[in-house]
Amino acid sequence: MNFEEALNKLKRYGQEQVLAWYDGLGEAEKAALLREIEKTDLSPLLGFRAALEPRPAGEKIEPLAAMELEEIGANRERFTARGLEAIRRRKLAAVLLAGGQGTRLGVDKSKGLVDIGLTHPLYIFECLFRNLMEVTAQAGCTLPLYVMTSAINDQAIRDFLREKDYFGYPAEEVRFFEQETCPAVSPEGKILMASRSAMFMAPNGNGGWYKSMARAGITEELRRAGIQWLNAFAVDNVLQRIADPCFLGAVLDRGCDSGAKVIRKAFPEEKVGVMCRRNGRASVVEYYELTPEMLEERNGSGDLAYNFGVILNYLFRVDALDKFLGDKPILHLAKKKVPCLDEKGEVIQPETENGYKLETLILDLVEKMDSCLPFEVVREKEFAPIKNKTGVDSIESARELLKLNGIVL
Ligand code: UTP
Repeated sequence: MNFEEALNKLKRYGQEQVLAWYDGLGEAEKAALLREIEKTDLSPLLGFRAALEPRPAGEKIEPLAAMELEEIGANRERFTARGLEAIRRRKLAAVLLAGGQGTRLGVDKSKGLVDIGLTHPLYIFECLFRNLMEVTAQAGCTLPLYVMTSAINDQAIRDFLREKDYFGYPAEEVRFFEQETCPAVSPEGKILMASRSAMFMAPNGNGGWYKSMARAGITEELRRAGIQWLNAFAVDNVLQRIADPCFLGAVLDRGCDSGAKVIRKAFPEEKVGVMCRRNGRASVVEYYELTPEMLEERNGSGDLAYNFGVILNYLFRVDALDKFLGDKPILHLAKKKVPCLDEKGEVIQPETENGYKLETLILDLVEKMDSCLPFEVVREKEFAPIKNKTGVDSIESARELLKLNGIVL
């Protein structure tokens, strides 16, 4: 792409300022910037204004019942046998979403590479591989594991896992694919520059994973291999049960085309997205969308009506996902501190949030599905996310939960 073509592309999105410093750049920098403009999909920027608006008023949000522990307990053997059978017939693959930046944790590498051990190394990735291998040992076979990375961590993740020999998991079952990045923008919707020759690029959220799989040719591979189900999960929950046969068996038993692992809320105001019915469809309602009345609403058994928080562990039927590949995803804006150029062309380190990252979220896929089974799991056994440096959902709190589950640190 030459300068004229780049300028024309930027003009279509009202972003000519990206080339403001072009004339003063060296030849290599000029080429790098033009290459970046050429390969970057700017179409998400068109949704910026609309994404600043709240969700449309008048949506009907109602409670959605979950399959609770008692029912799961009563059917555990049957569900597990059904799930194991599907795994043995190679109908399930796992998808590890590891493209995030982990800004809250404040590490400059993928969270998976973080060592949380005390007396010996124990990497976050290692916890996940161990959990997966408990299932594959039970099933007596392995299953494909797809790992989503992003430009900021792709090589580091590949190198790390290769060096660690995939913690004993067969290398031929592990396949990587990269998610897209998107430029961060100012409150006016203008692309922020990381330097005079580069836009500030950030991973575009965890919602585009299936599209990224399609772009990498993996969806075609799934079809050829007859893989019918995908279990997508977060990198940072070290107690994550992956390819849980009981969960898969329950979703199959109910004939749903998706499932979401959920935990009972600790208290009504807990800041988790909860399962609901939105305009008649299974969906996730964010905590800030719940009115005070909804927060306290009770069902017939006296439990909170909106009681089940999602933990980013989902099952999706592949053919149901295929139907939505061409859809425009819902855009979410994450307000962040973005180190970027000021009008003099100097990099500033902002003290307050000065920009937005544009993201899509996996939870929006739930609403696209015809049906979703919320499947209750025990918080202390399956939910130890590592999000923050200290306090709630930190390495410290995750260590306590690992110990509680008999893991030696
Ligand atoms: P979070 O929303 O917690 O984001 O991701 P994060 O990047 O890990 O952390 P912060 O918000 O910057 O502190 C939940 C899951 O989604 C993945 C993460 O790797 C994690 O497994 N994710 C997030 C992606 O794969 N890509 C993204 O662009 C964002």
